[in-house]
Formats: sequence, C-alpha cells, structure tokens
Amino acid sequence: MANPQEPLLEIKNLKKYFPVQRGFLQRTLGFVKAVDDVNLEVRAGETLGIVGESGSGKTTLGRCVTRLYEPTGGKILMRDGSQVLSVTDLKGQELKGFRRMAQTIFQDPYSSLNPRMNVLQTVGEPLLVNNIARGKELEQRVTETIVQVGLRVEHLQRYPHSFSGGQRQRIGIARALVLNPKVIVADEPVSALDVSIQAQILNLLLDLQQKYQLTYLFISHAMSVIRYVSDRIAVMYAGKLVELGSKKELLITPKHPYTETLLAAVPRTAQRRRGKRGVTPGEPPDLSNLPAGCVFVPRCKYAQEMCKTQAPELRMVGTDCWVSCHFAESLSLHGISGAAL
Ligand SMILES: Nc1ncnc2c1ncn2[C@@H]1O[C@H](COP(=O)(O)OP(=O)(O)OP(=O)(O)O)[C@@H](O)[C@H]1O
Ligand code: SF4
Ligand SMILES: [Mg+2]
Repeated sequence: MANPQEPLLEIKNLKKYFPVQRGFLQRTLGFVKAVDDVNLEVRAGETLGIVGESGSGKTTLGRCVTRLYEPTGGKILMRDGSQVLSVTDLKGQELKGFRRMAQTIFQDPYSSLNPRMNVLQTVGEPLLVNNIARGKELEQRVTETIVQVGLRVEHLQRYPHSFSGGQRQRIGIARALVLNPKVIVADEPVSALDVSIQAQILNLLLDLQQKYQLTYLFISHAMSVIRYVSDRIAVMYAGKLVELGSKKELLITPKHPYTETLLAAVPRTAQRRRGKRGVTPGEPPDLSNLPAGCVFVPRCKYAQEMCKTQAPELRMVGTDCWVSCHFAESLSLHGISGAAL
C-alpha cells in the first residue's frame, strides 16, 4: 500500500528556461522563466493539484517531471521500492523504464489521439514499443484496460472520430494506464470537455487512483476542478510556487494574496446563475522580464515598499503549509467557507 505521507517525488530547485530568440540569426535575447526554482514533494497515493492562471508554468512543470522536457536546472528524485532514482540524470534504458512509471493524460483528446489508429492500436502501442506484450496477450491487456475506464470490447476496432469527447478522454486515460504507472500527470484532463461529462471523468480518475494506488499531479487553471480532486494544492504564479498546503487549509485560510484572488474567482452558485466570474485583476506577468522583488507586486493590493525590492522565499507557516509572501502571518485573507468544501 502507498503511504500517503511518504514523498514519491522530490522536486528540488527545478528550473526550465526557454530562450527568447529573434531575427534571422535567431539571437538569444533573454529567457522565459517558465519554471523558476520550484521545490515540491509529491506524496505517494495523493492527488497534488497544481493551479494557476494561463502561462504560470503548470504544463512545463508537469513535462519536466515526466522528462518530456529537459530541465534547465535542479533535481527530481523518485522512490521506487528501496531505490531512489535521480530522474533528472536518467538516460537510455533507465529513462525508458522511468517513462513507463510516469505517464501523462493530455488536455485535448481530439489532438492527442492519432486518427488513423483504432483503440486496440492506440492503447496497445505503449505495450509494443516497450516490448511488454504483443499479439493475443496485448489484446487481452488492452481489453482489460479499456473495460477499467468504462469502454467496451466492441470499441477495440473503432477509430477516434467515432467517439464522443468523454469517450476519447477515456481512451487517453487507458493509454496512460496500460503500463501500470506509479504516477500520472493529468494536464487539464477535463478542460476540453463538456461540463456535463467533466464530473464523470474526474470520478473515473479518482476510482482508478483508489484501485491502483496511483499518485496524481493534477494540473488545472480552474480552482473549481482542483478543489474537487486534490488532497493538497500547489499554487503557481509566474513560474514560481507561491503557496502549497492541504486542500482544507488553503481553501479556507489562504495565505498568499494570489491564492485569495483565485478563490474569489471560483463561481458561487448565485454568480454562476448570473454567468458572473471573477479573474485576478491586472495584467499577467512577462516571464522574460519579471519584477525585482516579489513577482506578484504589480497586482497585489497588499504590497508594501519592501515587496518591490526583496523577493520572498517559500517558507513554512503552518504544519503543512508553505507560502512565499513577506506578510503571510499578518494578512487576513478571504477563503471559501468550510461548508462549501
Ligand atoms: N516550448 C516552449 N518554448 C518557449 N516558451 C514556452 C514553451 N512552452 C511554454 N513556454 C512559455 O512558458 C510559459 C509557461 O507555459 P506553460 O504552458 O507551462 O503554462 P501553463 O500554466 O500550462 O498555461 P496554460 O494554463 O495556458 O496551459 C509561458 O510563457 C509559455 O509561453
Ligand atoms: S510579498 Fe508583498 S507583493 Fe508579494 S504577495 Fe506578499 S504582500 Fe503581495
Ligand atoms: Mg498548460
């Protein structure tokens, strides 16, 4: 059984910078700091929700964790039985082995599936590529997996175009599940789906987690989705982790002003009826030209003089809560009521 307190993944000072290139000679003018010095532990068997507005670095973080992106700096460690793998140093066969353990579910089931491959080929491909199964054995494993995600045997020979959005996402989940991974990065897995089927897919993911003791890094820009699925929540802003804590504590008593604005944007029932939704006021930051002090300064209504020059460190402010704000202890921020959890 997975021990929920034990870190499965340790992310240390992780950085991913993309060069900004211009002109015929593609000269490098600077860097977009998509992930900048992120420290984070992901515990075995938990769902760690990663939330933040568009461009805050969520996908880049997820792709570094699964080694789809090569980090610019930092380390990622992963526990595998009694072994600790240095994920960021893996090469060749070891990297291939790690990729089997760390799978991704993508946002858009329309573009992430090959239209020329049927379900058997799509879900069976990872088994073939990794030399795990072929022929009858492959078909049996694929069949077992698609049944787990709510599809049927008669779907095996059908192509993506003949499925609904929700069913296509089930195919994407089956493809991620078929290799028996330990950790799944689910990157906006319901954002492209109709609201009426989002809950079905979220519940499926939660059922599969229980059944196979999966660990999820669940990425979404929508706090309403994150609060539904997460055990703990990590809030990203401008490539940095600005708050990390248990779901309950972070939602009821947020400690970072940016988290407060995200919670204010969660549609309340009355607002939803009127079609009203809030967003964080102000302009999103330019990641290649961030302010010298706290990255949230230009949009923070609590900013003081020192915030302009001194960058706050992520520090522990409660039993299971980390925040990067100089005034985390003295601010009294608005969360959502406990009854709404
Ligand atoms: N391959 C790339 N090359 C250059 N810049 C990139 C690349 N991928 C991401 N970026 C930049 O890095 C920043 C973070 O992007 P990322 O996709 O990680 O954000 P996100 O939080 O997932 O946003 P969204 O909610 O829109 O998916 C953005 O400024 C983006 O433009
Ligand atoms: S450090 Fe200052 S600017 Fe940054 S979030 Fe806290 S109060 Fe706002
Ligand atoms: Mg993204």
